[in-house]
Amino acid sequence: MTEPSGSPVDLVVLGGGSGGYAAALRAAELGMTVVMIEKDKVGGTCLHRGCIPTKALLHSAETVEVIKESAQFGVNGTFESVDMGGVNKYKDKVVEGLFKGLTGLVKSRKIEVVQGHGRLVSPTAVEVEGRTIEARHVLLATGSVPRSIPGLEIDHARVINSDDALGMDTIPGSVVILGAGAIGCEFASVWRSFGAEVTIVEALPHLVPAEEESSSKLLERAFRKRGIKQELGARFEKVEHTDEGVRVHLEGGKTIDADLLLVAIGRGPVSKDLGYEQVGVEMQRGFVMVDAYCQTNIPTISAVGDLIPTLQLAHVGFGEGILVAERLAGLAVTPIDYDGVPRVTYSSPEVASVGLTRKAAEERGYEVVEATYDLAGNGKARILGTAGAVKVLASKDGPVIGVHMVGERVGELIAEAQLITNWEALPGEVAQLIHPHPTMSEAVGEAHLALAGKPLHSHA
Ligand code: NAI
Repeated sequence: MTEPSGSPVDLVVLGGGSGGYAAALRAAELGMTVVMIEKDKVGGTCLHRGCIPTKALLHSAETVEVIKESAQFGVNGTFESVDMGGVNKYKDKVVEGLFKGLTGLVKSRKIEVVQGHGRLVSPTAVEVEGRTIEARHVLLATGSVPRSIPGLEIDHARVINSDDALGMDTIPGSVVILGAGAIGCEFASVWRSFGAEVTIVEALPHLVPAEEESSSKLLERAFRKRGIKQELGARFEKVEHTDEGVRVHLEGGKTIDADLLLVAIGRGPVSKDLGYEQVGVEMQRGFVMVDAYCQTNIPTISAVGDLIPTLQLAHVGFGEGILVAERLAGLAVTPIDYDGVPRVTYSSPEVASVGLTRKAAEERGYEVVEATYDLAGNGKARILGTAGAVKVLASKDGPVIGVHMVGERVGELIAEAQLITNWEALPGEVAQLIHPHPTMSEAVGEAHLALAGKPLHSHA
């Protein structure tokens, strides 16, 4: 028996990750009464098992590189070792601090957080811990978990996923990483800096295969220089446990021995046994289907974040959550332009992009013109000792439609490229804007100068 329901709240949110909590915060700000149900910790994958802890690891990795390369800058330093206990302490402190802040924010907006495993029981109700919460609207935001392939069992010891990798208190001597998306490339980068022998196995012909091909190639070159081995266009066959670790078999007979296999072949939606099908929510391959306003086929139910088949990025979840809250509060909302969402892989070097790749643009019928600015010509990049490039794509005689970058810290440059692309600036208009010297951002300006036909520090 469940407790009788009280009077309905305006919004019940199932899942307190990036998408769910953004909706809850915005809805509360707009005067709605909100209950948020979370079985683990508010903040979800991004804060506890994703973006934040991995970027902390990447910063520790960067620190190793700075010490190892210090002589190049005339500073004598000696790298001794990585203390994983210390790395984890630092990482956990960052997460804990943000978690405290978020918990306080949720509380200050008077959002009721119910700890427990919720289940959708009707178009306007969620059941949790024997209590039925009635609401005018329900938001499904149950996120995603790492997935595997049939026959490849994650034992969480020798064959691991990204959740396991984040909790490790030792550095593997050698590791095979299956999948060269953001997760695979970021862990390859961290572990290589920490001293491991790393081999990436990717079924498609390139690292970060969804990116512009020239960006993939620059990352491949940089990773090769760092000693990260790459098996591209290679199909995984099976993994065998050995006395020392694992033996990974690729189709065609090649084998790779390592201490560990990290499976990073994507994340799948969390939607099973949550009552979604029973209530009649339309689903495909486990994803909840929504319209451009994140509304499901049932008008009182919306869904956001990794649970729906849009880009699985925390900032997309934030945007979708805000959109739903504003729509439910009766504000005029605009559908998200997913092409205009910036994407960053925080490996060393970083890969960042916004807008279309050349291939996607041509498939959509654009006549594409492009300019590439090599970071070798950029003063600040030379000072930092980073290689890479900024590539700008525009439609012929039209606006910029895509920007693709590789290099240290380019993730911080993508925000300008995002404005350029989303505001449909012409290359000549951007060329008119003076960039501060000496900064990496000048490379963005230089690429537009070149595309506008007046290159400064580059050849036409
Ligand atoms: P992903 O889908 O980005 O990449 C998986 C890769 O594995 C693909 O390149 C795919 O071709 C390859 N693959 C699949 N099956 C394979 C097989 N049997 N053998 C060899 N290769 C195979 O997924 P990933 O990296 O696991 O990340 C999951 C999600 O989380 C993605 O949407 C990603 O964008 C997001 N994420 C974003 C980050 C960021 O923005 N910096 C960081 C980490 C994750």
